[in-house]
Amino acid sequence: MWQNVVIVGAQWGDEGKGKVVDALAEHFDIVARYQGGANAGHTVVVNGTKFVLQLLPAGVVRPDKIAVIGNGLVINPESLLEEVARVENAGVVIGQRLMVSDRAHLILPYHRSHEVAAEQARGVGKIGTTAKGIGPCYEDKAGRRGLRTGDLRDFEVFRRKCGEVVADKNRLASALFAGTMLEADDLAESYYEKARCILPYLADVSAYLNTEMDRGRRVLFEGAQGTMLDLDHGTYPFVTSSSAAAGGACTGTGVGPTRIDAVVGVSKAYATRVGSGPFPTEALGIEGEKIRERGGEYGAVTGRPRRCGWFDVPAARYSARLNHLKALVITKLDILDHLAEIPVGVEYDLDGCGTTEFPSEIAALERMKVRYRVMPGWQESTHGISEFAQLPQKAQDYLHFLVDQVGVEIAVVSTGPQRDQTIWMKEL
Ligand code: GDP
Ligand code: IMO
Ligand code: MG
Repeated sequence: MWQNVVIVGAQWGDEGKGKVVDALAEHFDIVARYQGGANAGHTVVVNGTKFVLQLLPAGVVRPDKIAVIGNGLVINPESLLEEVARVENAGVVIGQRLMVSDRAHLILPYHRSHEVAAEQARGVGKIGTTAKGIGPCYEDKAGRRGLRTGDLRDFEVFRRKCGEVVADKNRLASALFAGTMLEADDLAESYYEKARCILPYLADVSAYLNTEMDRGRRVLFEGAQGTMLDLDHGTYPFVTSSSAAAGGACTGTGVGPTRIDAVVGVSKAYATRVGSGPFPTEALGIEGEKIRERGGEYGAVTGRPRRCGWFDVPAARYSARLNHLKALVITKLDILDHLAEIPVGVEYDLDGCGTTEFPSEIAALERMKVRYRVMPGWQESTHGISEFAQLPQKAQDYLHFLVDQVGVEIAVVSTGPQRDQTIWMKEL
């Protein structure tokens, strides 16, 4: 049995990580988010109540689990407090079960304005970000000028650091745009008033997790976004600004790599992407629209329509290698129920040569073509099925085909948003 496991998005995000983490959390003591911020939208449905979690780990909806927000996240305290209130109003008591790293970085209002201005300046080349201030906050972190949650412990420290950053931002703003200047004291005071309410949640998350692991408690690490949006390994520059792949679990929580027993990748039975950037197996036109409508493929956070397409084998193999996936979870199988034929992208054609390697350059991704294998559809409902043997034969064949192509076994198949709409194929 695996003691500590990372759940990672194997595609471009929105694979159903929320549902999977919630279903798996039953067998773990602690659920720890390791990167990203409120750009994430992880949907969990419990007894008909839907939660869209942005900063809180999906384990929080189970009353006996500890929810940990790692140092790898970027946090807007107001958003976090609103989310806590929203979840508690829906009947979930959080109380002492939430712990926030005192090394996580703070999103300030100027991060969002910076992001909006940068996206506008990019014009048609825009990334299509979520406008939550994520990228600029991570820029400040890497630039060693970020403010951290721990800085809220002492207002004078917070005010001083805020003053330094604001002076820096204003220098830049006047040099670049002659824009409206920020007023440091006003900002520090108004921000602090609200942000200090997260102080009771602050802790040394790395110390806590390692101590609990020493005691034999099991930790489920929850990734946000997906491998193909990882800052280093995704379709750069059309990526998010954090380490979404499994490697981020270590840096994002302060846990050593050898403490983690397995990485499980979550993938839809097809593919989606929100925002701009390469999407090799995108189904343009009516086919993509049908999947979007059937799958409810609209951003959980921004409401933007998600681009839809087919399962991409080279991307899945790339993700399997990067994360060293021990198992796959295939979600939303039921969304393909209506199709007579299901194309699967099995190989890329790059300048006339077949390859199953995922190119690192945008230019190559843009000019290459995808070679498809068309699988027969099953055309009957799989919605809610919880036994593999009850799936139509052609659905079983489809899943076996994915295993053969990707080279990773499937541990779980999801056939609906609810907990019990799940096929467990392997004891995790
Ligand atoms: P995440 O960001 O990876 O957690 O995924 P999202 O929550 O953004 O998007 C996944 C959507 O699909 C949510 O609305 C889920 O409730 C829903 N969902 C998850 N698994 C299944 C499934 O197997 N079948 C169906 N029909 N919906 C699912
Ligand atoms: P979950 O965790 C899907 C995308 C944005 C944009 C790019 C950069 O729910 O899977 P950012 O605001 O992060 O700087 O935007 O990344 N993106 C996501 N796409 N699911 C997500 O999260 C995403 N978080 C960011 O659409 O293309
Ligand atoms: Mg999502």
